[in-house]
Amino acid sequence: LAPVRVLGIESSCDETGLALIEVGADPARLPRLLADALHSQIAMHQDYGGVVPELASRDHIRRLLPLLQRVLTDSGCVRGDIDAVAYTAGPGLAGALLTGSALAAALAWSLGVPAWPVHHLEGHLLSPMLSSDPPPFPFVALLVSGGHTQLMRVDGVGRYALLGETVDDAAGEAFDKSAKVLGLGYPGGPALAQCAESGDPAAHDLPRPLLHSKDLDFSFAGLKTAVATRVQRLGRAPSEAERADLAASTQAAIVEVLVKKSAAALKQTGLNRLVVAGGVGANAHLRDSLNALAQRRGWRVHYPELRLCTDNGAMIALAAGLRLQHGLLDRPQRGVAGPQAV
Ligand code: KG4
Ligand code: ZN
Repeated sequence: LAPVRVLGIESSCDETGLALIEVGADPARLPRLLADALHSQIAMHQDYGGVVPELASRDHIRRLLPLLQRVLTDSGCVRGDIDAVAYTAGPGLAGALLTGSALAAALAWSLGVPAWPVHHLEGHLLSPMLSSDPPPFPFVALLVSGGHTQLMRVDGVGRYALLGETVDDAAGEAFDKSAKVLGLGYPGGPALAQCAESGDPAAHDLPRPLLHSKDLDFSFAGLKTAVATRVQRLGRAPSEAERADLAASTQAAIVEVLVKKSAAALKQTGLNRLVVAGGVGANAHLRDSLNALAQRRGWRVHYPELRLCTDNGAMIALAAGLRLQHGLLDRPQRGVAGPQAV
């Protein structure tokens, strides 16, 4: 069977990502990334301190076709080489999602190939499969993005069981909101992590909600409030050193909860393999803490390549490609398959 080329389109939030992947029929051989192109809107939203949905949608529209052209040029492919189009169907900003799904539907219709909707989090979850050290199933996945914080048991492609999740804010949201309170830039995660480098993580004893709860759920809403209270108590803007201490203490609180709950999930499932995915997975302190514990306990921790931690088109093409390899999608037949509904 000839390999299938899947175009992936991601436009759920503030990154426009397109990628082309080649998928062989044998599931033992992982899909191969032919080319990917990304445009981040971070600079555009920075002035507003967060993502402005209307601006995001408009910018996706401007970027989608040039990025598609770049992917084709970089891969040495032409439009007619695309056998299927995979796009992020959700979750995400409605208007932003529509831009990607509209392009996917139009492209698929004009090429006579299927358009496959992909769940954004499945993309994140499977993204370590594109690394040089792809994890074999089963594993526990810690999904930590700006909108989600979940622990999943993953037994195979499409075989996911939710073990626990946040009852309020996501881990990335805790980074972003605390950073805002501290007057750091957007997105808050990388800004707070950088500020924390010169701070003392033990300077403030910030809350670690649900740390000792018996379940695998998370709660981060109280953290931002605690940080805000500390700042208010100062009665003035924090100095650089005070800001660094607060940032380091905030990061320590978030990371400790993520690490302890991941450990509890591995214990509960009896598995010894952890996959970390989503934007917060780029956090160096989280990686160092997980790696140190993994070494003591004999686990393996897998991460996506750093550039594939945050939103991108490759993970969307990959999720569809793996579904195809595992019989969860029909093999595309040129000229007969229109957009598929799910
Ligand atoms: O996965 P992602 O790109 O988008 C969503 O699907 O939400 O994740 C974005 C989140 C943001 O909250 C951002 O602040 C956080 O990931 N993030 C980080 C780091 N890099 C990105 N948080 C902590 N440390 C980082 N280095
Ligand atoms: Zn994401």
